[in-house]
Amino acid sequence: MPVQERRESVQPFDWAKQWYPLAYVEDLDVKVPHPLELLSQRLAKGRRTLVPAHGIAAGTAVLAPQQGQGFFAAGEQEQIKSEQPFDWAKQWYPLGFLEDLDPKVPHPVELLSQRLVLWCDGQGQWRCFQDKCPHRLAPLSEGRIEPSDGTLMCSYHGWRFDGEGKCTDIPQSLDAKANASACANPRSCAISHPTQVLQGKVWVYGEGGPRTFIDSAAVQPARAPNLAVGESVREAGGGEALRLVQPYTRDFPYAWDVLAENLLDPSHVNFSHHGIIGDRDKEDSGLTRISPGPEPAAAPSAQDTISMEVETWVRQARKVDKWGVQFIAPCLIQWKFRLPWGNTNTLNFYMIPTAPGKSRFMLDSYTQKEGMPLPVLLILKYFAIPWLPHLRMSNRILDGDTALLHWQGHSVAREAKEEGRTWRQAYFMPTPADRYVAKFRQWLDERAGGGPTPYDPSHPLPPLETSKETILDRWNSHTMHCKACQQGFRIVQAAQIAAAVLGALCMLGLSAVLGQGRPLLSRLPALLGAGAIVCAVAWRLLKSFKQNFIFVDYNHSHQH
Ligand code: FES
Ligand SMILES: [Fe+2]
Repeated sequence: MPVQERRESVQPFDWAKQWYPLAYVEDLDVKVPHPLELLSQRLAKGRRTLVPAHGIAAGTAVLAPQQGQGFFAAGEQEQIKSEQPFDWAKQWYPLGFLEDLDPKVPHPVELLSQRLVLWCDGQGQWRCFQDKCPHRLAPLSEGRIEPSDGTLMCSYHGWRFDGEGKCTDIPQSLDAKANASACANPRSCAISHPTQVLQGKVWVYGEGGPRTFIDSAAVQPARAPNLAVGESVREAGGGEALRLVQPYTRDFPYAWDVLAENLLDPSHVNFSHHGIIGDRDKEDSGLTRISPGPEPAAAPSAQDTISMEVETWVRQARKVDKWGVQFIAPCLIQWKFRLPWGNTNTLNFYMIPTAPGKSRFMLDSYTQKEGMPLPVLLILKYFAIPWLPHLRMSNRILDGDTALLHWQGHSVAREAKEEGRTWRQAYFMPTPADRYVAKFRQWLDERAGGGPTPYDPSHPLPPLETSKETILDRWNSHTMHCKACQQGFRIVQAAQIAAAVLGALCMLGLSAVLGQGRPLLSRLPALLGAGAIVCAVAWRLLKSFKQNFIFVDYNHSHQH
């Protein structure tokens, strides 16, 4: 038989049905899993097993509703389908906390895949335009706010816009008449989105253009139900509300739906956040119980809310306790739990759909002043360092989720693109703990078009980052937007410079006194030497502390 013919009769070589060495045994720490890649699959190498890194066993495409029933009560599902679909663009979203936004400069922001610019006009009103100049589409966020007249000036050719988006000056116009005529043309206007300031945040309507100023007036924002409507934090009933943590903003490398799913999933807390706000050793035998909660007060639409009551181990209280969790579309998830002294602490998580595979997270936390123990009150009022809880708590808690969710979101998109599998087929959720994740996803599918920035399988996959340094980059995702952390960073940097200067002076002094012939162990040289050592140690400690503002690796295997 000719050689050629013999080759064709052989089965094609199957790369997947082969063994590959992935690492030397002596390089692997048996106590932790190691992320690896093989044939475009992300894998986790454990002590004995090699499993798909997202934890979904191949071929187990099962969704298991609670005890054989649907996730919705009888009739509820039908009701959802009969409603008008939820329109993500015709909604209000908070884009920044007032205290973090510098009114002297324009701020680039993203919302629903649109690039926008947020800025404060000469009358002190926050405005939002699409981030493209009507002249030749240069970004207005690179512009400047002119102190002389409070207009936003495009940095490319100097066109100026008032708060409503009207062009007020075109420097290249040949004379005043030509200028007035060009400025009167509607095509010279920037596209403006409605804005409002509410509960300490600047809110922006999802659509822009003149009509939206009428439409948006009839749409109620998803504001926190128990806070007064206004600029400062105050209880709706008039009592004083205190913030336990400064407002916190972070941009995440994963989609809005992945973020919302995470915040509606209390059973992850004791594992993802073990040692910080959770305790993995306490979560056993279905400890976390979830049941339907009361309907949220002041929600724009009862159809677009999810409410649950959770009973689980609460690390801070050191006991099993109840939480309330509520989702109010399009952007608020509220958690309420009791503090050790009995007051309720409320966490308002705002989720902003910025673009596919990306989201912005804003956290506002408050509790009632009444009933608060005096020492806690005094610490909060007079001794609290606003940026310290961001470093020690908020950043650390969110780091615990961020890498998991970035890779989870990518796996979900990949399943959809390459296998055509939806969450129903890709997730295996056999316990009641996932009931509200399923309920939320069902709401998204049936009423809200799959989400505000759904992944389109015909598009390329969202970028997959493998470097934790990029995924957990604190500087770009948080510090640069946070006034408190910027201040903290400057203080630490100044202290580091002071330690370096003092240390250098001590060394100079030491060499001078030694030059005069004084013995090293006499009083002054010893003092100067000790001073130099203390300054060097302080400089080194401050240098590593500064890293808290930039990047800190998070490894679940090292959380004991
Ligand atoms: S692009 Fe803005 S002024 Fe020319
Ligand atoms: Fe901060």
